[in-house]
Amino acid sequence: FQAEDGIRDQPRSRGLGDVYKRQLHYLYNKKIKLIITALKSNNEKDTRSPIHSDTISNLLNLGVQIQFEENIGNGINVSDEVFQDQGITKSTREDCLKNGDLIVTNQPIDNAELDHIKKGSTILGMISPFSNQQLIEECAQRNINLVSMEFIPRITRAQKMDVLSSQANLAGYVSVIESAKHLSTALPMMMTAAGTLKPAKVFVIGVGVAGLQAIATAKRLGARVEAFDTRNVVEEQVQSLGAKFVKIDLGETGETDQGYAKELTPEQIQKQKELQSKVCERSDIVITTAQLFGRPAPLLIDNKTIDNMNPGSVIFDMAVESGGNVEGSEVDKIIERNGVKIIGISNLASKVSNHASLALSNNYNNWISDFYDKESSKINFDFEDEIIKSSVLVYKGRITNERFQ
Ligand code: NAI
Repeated sequence: FQAEDGIRDQPRSRGLGDVYKRQLHYLYNKKIKLIITALKSNNEKDTRSPIHSDTISNLLNLGVQIQFEENIGNGINVSDEVFQDQGITKSTREDCLKNGDLIVTNQPIDNAELDHIKKGSTILGMISPFSNQQLIEECAQRNINLVSMEFIPRITRAQKMDVLSSQANLAGYVSVIESAKHLSTALPMMMTAAGTLKPAKVFVIGVGVAGLQAIATAKRLGARVEAFDTRNVVEEQVQSLGAKFVKIDLGETGETDQGYAKELTPEQIQKQKELQSKVCERSDIVITTAQLFGRPAPLLIDNKTIDNMNPGSVIFDMAVESGGNVEGSEVDKIIERNGVKIIGISNLASKVSNHASLALSNNYNNWISDFYDKESSKINFDFEDEIIKSSVLVYKGRITNERFQ
C-alpha cells in the first residue's frame, strides 16, 4: 500500500485498525477527485486541442485528475510526453470516454460512442447543438449531462468562456490572410522607384467579432477598408479601427438581447444586395461574415453582383458552413466565376490551431473553475446561475434548455 497525495505526510501507524483507516482515507481521497478527460478532435479538418500545455496548470491547481486522448496535441505541436511531464495521463479514446466525470471536446461526440460514457458524467464542449438534436436526446435518455459552450450567454461575466467569440476573432484574422494569398496584388500602398502600387480595397460585410478582427487585420496590412452591418451600433467601432462604415438605409433592423442581428425581411435583403453591390464592384477583397444565431446565414451576394466585380478579385465567404452569404460558395472549395475567386473554408480558427487551442482551453478552464465545487469535487449545476441555465442543455436525464425540448 503506497500513500499518496494529501496523506503522504501523515505519521506511519502501527495497529491494523490504523492501517485500515489510512486505506479508507486514501481510497476516499482518490475517489473524490474529479476526473476530467480531454478528447482529440474526431474531424480531420479540426486540428485544435481542448487542452494546451500553457494552460493545463490552471486546471491541475483545482485538484482534479486529467487524462487526455493520445496524440491530442499533434495539431498544435505539443507531444504526449510534454503533457505527461506536466502530470496528466495519456489514455485511449475509449478509456477517456469511460473514465471521465467531465469529458471535454471541441467536436460533437458520435452517438455510438455514448455507450462508453457512464451515467451522471458530463460532456462539455462545442457540440453544434442546432445540427445535433439527436445527440441532445440521446444524452437525456442515457442520463449524461451535456454542456454546450456555444450557449454561453453574452454577458460581461461570461466573456472569458465565450468560445464563439474566441474562435470568431481568430477566424476573422485568417479570412484576411487567406484572401491575400489569392490576390495578385499586395495589400499595402508602396511607393517605390518602380512606381506607386495602390493599396488593396477590402469590404467587410457583417461586423461582429470576426468582422472587427478582419477589419483590424486588413488595416494592419495597409488595405483601405470599408464595412457594413445591419446593426447601426457598430458604425463607431468600424470608424475607431480607421475603416469607413458604408451607410445603407434598410429601415428597422435591430438586434436581440444577446447582441445578435435580427433576421431581415426578403425586401430588406433585396435592398441591401442592390445598394452594397457598388461597393463590391470597387473592392479587391470582399469578406462576408453575416450570420444569424441558430438560423441559416442570409444570402447577400448573388451572381449579378459577382459578374460586375473585377476579374482577379476575391470573395471570402466566412458563413459558408452555415449556408453561405455568397451564391455558389462551397465548403472547402474555391469556385471561380468570371475571374472572381469565391473562397469557402471550414474550421477557419483551426488554421491558427495553437492560438485557437490556447483560447479554447482558457474558455473551458474558466467554465470549469467557476462551477467546480472543491468541497464535493463535483460540478455545481446551479440553475439559478445565468451561465449554467443557458449553457447546460441536458441535466439528470432531462433536456433543460427549452429550445431543444
Ligand atoms: P454573428 O457571428 O452571429 O454575426 C456576425 C455579424 O453579422 C453580426 O455583427 C451581425 O449583425 C451581422 N449580420 C447579420 N445579418 C447581416 C446582414 N444582412 N448584413 C450585414 N451584416 C449582418 O455575431 P457575433 O460576431 O457572434 O456577435 C455579434 C455581436 O454580439 C458582437 O458584435 C457584440 O456586439 C456582441 N457580443 C457580445 C459579447 C458579450 O457581451 N459578452 C460577446 C460577443 C459578442
